[in-house]
Amino acid sequence: MIKVSLISLGCAKNLVDSEIMVGHLHQAGMAVIPEADKADVVIVNTCSFIDSSKEESLSHILEVHQSRGMTKRRKEQKLIVAGCMAQRFSKDLSTSLHDEVDAFIGLDQLTKVAPIIEEIYAKERGKQDAPVNFIVGKSTYIPDFNTPRFRLTPKHFAYIKIAEGCNHPCTFCIIPQIRGRHRSRTVESVVAEARQLVKEGVKELNLISQDTTFFGMDTWEQRPNPRTPVDSSRGTALTTLLRELNAIEGDFWIRLLYTHPAHWSDELIKTIAECPKVARYIDIPLQHISDAMLERMQRETSGDYIRDLIKRIRAGIPGIAVRTTFIVGFPGETDADVAELCQFIEETKFERLGVFRYSQEEGTRGAKMPDQIPAKVKEARWHKLMALQQKIAAEVSKSHVGQTLKVLVEEPGVARGEADAPDIDGRVYVPRELPVSEFVEVKITGYQDYDLLALPKGQKPAEFKVAKQAQ
Ligand code: F3S
Repeated sequence: MIKVSLISLGCAKNLVDSEIMVGHLHQAGMAVIPEADKADVVIVNTCSFIDSSKEESLSHILEVHQSRGMTKRRKEQKLIVAGCMAQRFSKDLSTSLHDEVDAFIGLDQLTKVAPIIEEIYAKERGKQDAPVNFIVGKSTYIPDFNTPRFRLTPKHFAYIKIAEGCNHPCTFCIIPQIRGRHRSRTVESVVAEARQLVKEGVKELNLISQDTTFFGMDTWEQRPNPRTPVDSSRGTALTTLLRELNAIEGDFWIRLLYTHPAHWSDELIKTIAECPKVARYIDIPLQHISDAMLERMQRETSGDYIRDLIKRIRAGIPGIAVRTTFIVGFPGETDADVAELCQFIEETKFERLGVFRYSQEEGTRGAKMPDQIPAKVKEARWHKLMALQQKIAAEVSKSHVGQTLKVLVEEPGVARGEADAPDIDGRVYVPRELPVSEFVEVKITGYQDYDLLALPKGQKPAEFKVAKQAQ
């Protein structure tokens, strides 16, 4: 039996791709094992978002290669590079990683991974032979609900990829060139998958894609403009999907990740407000607030539009936690742009906020722009924003003390509330004896920066101290 080990890097979208590969390997009767040193084949599912992700991917590839030859089994070991870096750079990498890699597979080969492995095995590779490149053209694949998939997330949460690809022209981003044009799944397909996951005991469905607010719009008869709001009267839309998911029986959260500000609408705000299973949390990367920067980034939004949208979201969905990300150091960013951004952050008090330093990515329009910002300046701006947010985060955390929250227990002693997405946001520390993978009602008793401390309703603080010390 062929033994395969898979290293999954990058974001949740890549993780779903890894899950699809593992599902197909199992289906083909291959064993998937965690130890790369005992495997016949190692797959590195790479990320290529920014320089540091490419470096991380390369270091994993080199590490796997360098350990080959340490045992007899490893001498024969095959190394396959999959994912975003392969999809984008396989031609260049075929030369630079000639000796290290046996094959490259892209996003459209996920379901063919088992026959590809058989093929590589059957062929003896000569020293001069280049790695086999299975990637042809742009990616068009999108999984369906019955695609074999083996979940790699804990029992209680799952990612559902509702669409693939992206039609946005953001000048800093390489992902549309990697993942292709936006293509949505059908509502029926997503609902069938969600139903099955809830049946299996999943308590949190995380909806992901490059732009979840664009869901369904690619199927509309008339092509949506950049600022087209979610509108179910024009065809399938995210609102249709959310209402159908909300109607599935059971106690679970639906979490909306990766929304684009340009496609929000009053209809979407109303839908979330009316669907109690949709978490009071939204992930809405804004990237900047200065008009000059938004224009250069081609974000299809303006400062006034964003300010108004955040107000409408907060007014329309009481208790909503807003998560956003900003980029500092984009070409041409001035001190005045940064001051405007700081003021906006201070006024808006985002419940969750992340900051990226701009990375000059080969193949993007941003990379060719004049007025690139020196690394030192980017670093200083990043620190400024992070320090500002740390203060705000402490205020936000403090405001929860005394409140009762429903949390999902992640592991002994650690839980997450509705306002915390997996692997991104804060934690709620709870007594270790609370049941893992279950919802529990807790009372918030304290906080530490981004994290909260809590007790089950009715438990006394003294009992909690003992549980905390035991952790
Ligand atoms: Fe994700 Fe990295 Fe690809 S962030 S979409 S794995 S480039």
